[in-house]
Amino acid sequence: MNIVICNNYGELSKKAAHIIKEQINDKQNSVIGLATGSTPLGTYSELIDLYKKGKINFSDTITFNLDEYYRIKKDHPQSYDYFMNENLFNHINIDKKNTHIANGDADNPNDECESYNKMLDSIGGIDLQVLGIGSNGHIGFNEPAQELSARTHLVKLTSKTIEDNSRFFNNVSDVPTQALTMGMADILKAKKIIILISGVNKAKIAAEMFKNRITTQVPASMLHMHPNTTVLIDKDAASMLP
Ligand code: F6R
Repeated sequence: MNIVICNNYGELSKKAAHIIKEQINDKQNSVIGLATGSTPLGTYSELIDLYKKGKINFSDTITFNLDEYYRIKKDHPQSYDYFMNENLFNHINIDKKNTHIANGDADNPNDECESYNKMLDSIGGIDLQVLGIGSNGHIGFNEPAQELSARTHLVKLTSKTIEDNSRFFNNVSDVPTQALTMGMADILKAKKIIILISGVNKAKIAAEMFKNRITTQVPASMLHMHPNTTVLIDKDAASMLP
């Protein structure tokens, strides 16, 4: 893994946006894998800025989001569909037909996962995948477990993730307990990966991730096996690295 230590969150966000811009400028119809949560917000706001300055054109860009809560309606303010529209898609010239987010309100989640996998396969996989990391080491919603799933699947969220994400909801009991997430193979097949790690609350898991071992109990440690991963980490999150 290529590790870039950034002075602060602002620098990390600028660097991440720059990498995405270069990817799209090199290949207009790039397939970009997107994450939600707090960490990529700065990156998305930088991308909006670059778009407004005419430095990036999303008209042919294709996106696939990593995950969505289950069960949640698209218009719920905490759905990842809503998040992407509010924080990126509504502010750039992307064709919404080219954006993909699993339907967290599908009656049959397994069918929904299967159709998401088919769309991913038909598009030929992801050129650049953007990741965050959960404080328990999850990527997408691939939670620490004895076994991880290869493809998009329905997953039960751990109590740690539910607790972490309760900050976005009125009550911890309002957080959906399941999610649809791309699997580890879907992520690791991406040609390039950038993982964004920011804040002192990620320092412990960042240190775990960089240990010289790969374990399904820290799903992000599997990125050691990927040939083109860049870790953008700010000084706070890097504070416990050897
Ligand atoms: C969200 C996702 C998750 C988040 C992770 C960190 O689409 O894939 O893995 O990246 O939970 O979330 P934040 O950035 O809110 O700490």
